[in-house]
Amino acid sequence: MVTNGMDNKTVIAFGADHGGAALKHRLAGALAEAGHEIQDFGTDGPTSVDYPDFAYAVCEAVALGRADFGVLVCGTGIGMSIAANRHPAIRCGLAHDVTTARLSRAHNNANVLALGARIVGEEVARDILHSFIATPYEGGRHDRRLAKLTPNLEPQP
Ligand code: RB5
Repeated sequence: MVTNGMDNKTVIAFGADHGGAALKHRLAGALAEAGHEIQDFGTDGPTSVDYPDFAYAVCEAVALGRADFGVLVCGTGIGMSIAANRHPAIRCGLAHDVTTARLSRAHNNANVLALGARIVGEEVARDILHSFIATPYEGGRHDRRLAKLTPNLEPQP
């Protein structure tokens, strides 16, 4: 958990393209209300932007330890997940359902969640995000597999 010097909070970095901005805004607001610390890397409106730019900003925040998790929203979640998974420190799971989100944490120790705003509604997205944040990594047999993905990285907590 990232420490802000006063108390321990889960810090979540958000990013979206124009297709995901509205859903990002709502999800970030819900998590802020629930007491999480939010870092919002934009975009914030319907003007067309390029999803790799926002994926990179969020992934850097997670990779540098400034955020515990990242959440990336585009139209389908596909572009964001492809972009995020090019970052060597990132394991991004694209989830359209709660089970995938839970297992992406439990088995893959995913540190970034990708969502598709054209695929899931707000309520489903909220449930997916809650499941992602609430589920711990199981470790054990999965450590060996994660080590094969990023052999030069320290094991993640
Ligand atoms: C933007 O038009 C759209 O391509 C983007 O939001 C995303 O769905 C890409 O994967």
